[in-house]
Amino acid sequence: MNYRHSYHAGNFADVLKHSLQMICLDYLRQKDKPFWVLDTHAGIGMYDLRGEQASKTAEWEQGIARLLDAENPPAALSAYLDCVRVLNPDGELRWYPGSPWLSARQLRSQDSLVLCELHPEDGGLLEQNVRRDFRSAGSVKVMTETDGYGAVKALLPPPAKRGLVLIDPPFEQRDEFIQASTALGQGLQRWANGTYAVWYPIKDPLNVGVFHKHAVRLAGADKVLAVDLMIRAPHDRTRLNGCGMFFINPPYGLLQQLTEVMEFLTPLLAQGEGAEWRATWPA
Ligand SMILES: C[S@@+](CC[C@H](N)C(=O)[O-])C[C@H]1O[C@@H](n2cnc3c(N)ncnc32)[C@H](O)[C@@H]1O
Repeated sequence: MNYRHSYHAGNFADVLKHSLQMICLDYLRQKDKPFWVLDTHAGIGMYDLRGEQASKTAEWEQGIARLLDAENPPAALSAYLDCVRVLNPDGELRWYPGSPWLSARQLRSQDSLVLCELHPEDGGLLEQNVRRDFRSAGSVKVMTETDGYGAVKALLPPPAKRGLVLIDPPFEQRDEFIQASTALGQGLQRWANGTYAVWYPIKDPLNVGVFHKHAVRLAGADKVLAVDLMIRAPHDRTRLNGCGMFFINPPYGLLQQLTEVMEFLTPLLAQGEGAEWRATWPA
């Protein structure tokens, strides 16, 4: 396990993932009934963009820095932007929240969050970051040195009827798409109505289609949505040319706001000609 998210925190891929994550959570918060969130690949929860690792790549400069500077962002991005601004009150961008921190901040007293992280060192940092900022949130459970795919099988169905399973693997292993599909299958068997969101990288768009087909077979074509963002045309298929999120049971609020958000983010995050986005209901 060599992957460390600190090198990539706040990059275009985080902006896409965290924008859509927060829209899903906003929607869950519209009803008083409790919701439950499982973050299978949590990372460390908080990133120092001026630290050694993030500074080496400075990927955040082409991600969250652009979004913070942008004029008139869609209202659907307000909760996400508020989180980043709260962490950087003097206006100078330094701290960037990971998916666990973003979810934890959206919890109400009736909601709960489970965070899994396999890397022992990152798990320790996650625990520290969550406990420091959400000391009173008894409903946040951190599971260190825990395989997030295994947690899908072990923890579903959750006590609440509504909620989100976020699967954000590092894609270091060649079979990551297969592992994600297997976890989705196990999840759906136990919790058919939950919302599932899987993030994936796009180097060669053709490789993603196979995963889409598997996931559609598990869930049924009427229950899925894939949102792909290309930051440039994929001429060089060894580079990270884009990324996507695959949803099962996407919340209505996401479908409503998707076009406005993606039309705004796509030119903002572009890193070359050929930037585009598409939402597909892969059949
Ligand atoms: C892309 S990062 C997560 C970033 C985080 N979701 C965010 O948006 O802030 C992936 C994380 O998964 C961890 N990881 C790798 N394999 C795992 C597994 N099988 N179960 C749980 N965590 C795993 C890595 O150590 C890494 O911290």
